[in-house]
Amino acid sequence: MGGWLQGRTALITGGGSGLGAAIAERFVAEGAQVAILDKSDEKIAEIAERSKGAITGVAGDVRHLGDNQQAVGYAVDKFGKLDIFIGNAAIWDYNAKLIDLPEENIAAAFDELFAVNVKGYLLGAKAAQKELVRAKGCMIFTVSNAGFYVDGGGPLYTASKHAVVGLIKQLAFECAPHVRVNGVAPGAISTDLRGPAALGLAEMSIANVPLGQALKGTLPLSDLPTSQDYTGAYVLFASKENIPMATGAVLNCDGGFGVRGLSSASAGEDLPQRLGLAIK
Ligand SMILES: NC(=O)c1ccc[n+]([C@@H]2O[C@H](COP(=O)([O-])OP(=O)(O)OC[C@H]3O[C@@H](n4cnc5c(N)ncnc54)[C@H](O)[C@@H]3O)[C@@H](O)[C@H]2O)c1
Repeated sequence: MGGWLQGRTALITGGGSGLGAAIAERFVAEGAQVAILDKSDEKIAEIAERSKGAITGVAGDVRHLGDNQQAVGYAVDKFGKLDIFIGNAAIWDYNAKLIDLPEENIAAAFDELFAVNVKGYLLGAKAAQKELVRAKGCMIFTVSNAGFYVDGGGPLYTASKHAVVGLIKQLAFECAPHVRVNGVAPGAISTDLRGPAALGLAEMSIANVPLGQALKGTLPLSDLPTSQDYTGAYVLFASKENIPMATGAVLNCDGGFGVRGLSSASAGEDLPQRLGLAIK
């Protein structure tokens, strides 16, 4: 079967569930060989079984350089090279506002969330850099609408995703002309996204948050997307053929967060009716 990523090899952090798993499966469908790094043995086993062994990985914590190095080594041993590194593992603060962050835990919560969301990406980049330069490859990082706008998280998550945008730009500068570095900024998705243990949110899952209801009337494209809906953006950045000149770019796929109106989220609801079209 053909595909945009024939012959390419990829390592995806947080590839055991949600968006990372969807990217892994899409990359395989596009012809890539894919390895994942995830802290959950169980999730790695699940995706390996679901993909009939096409997607395998290493259990480890993105907060440790050694675990990232081990994952890069695993991919290179298995595939002979590494073309694409995707930093994606993260946790969310469940919109905890400054006023609600407890004095006794605020510092620990910051350290924990930034360690996964920002340090994890930095250490992944460090571990993968040499192999990516060798392969003339690329890095892609998962951002969020919270990388640009408020209220997609509280101050911890919003600051961490803004930091990721800065990281992408700096790494794009430092790695050019050998490695392209870009980001994808998704909006809300019903996944297994967890929160910091320091806030007692380690067992919370965003799957239990009624996101569909929250989005209705809030975003111009108000449907709740699936993880699969975002994977094309990663294929685009990963395929040299389609977007060879993009580096330091972040593709917003956030349902139009930045183009909301003042009087309503979108102004086109009644277009079919006004144009005499029998569609909804
Ligand atoms: N779900 C959303 O609404 C949403 C919206 C915008 C952006 N995002 C971003 O999408 C990305 C993926 O999140 P998701 O929603 O698919 O969540 P998810 O929890 O389903 O997937 C994240 C994966 O990362 C793994 N992980 C977490 N901490 C880790 C660590 N320290 N070391 C190694 N692995 C670790 C988890 O085990 C999990 O498999 C994140 O960067 C998140 O910020 C999510």
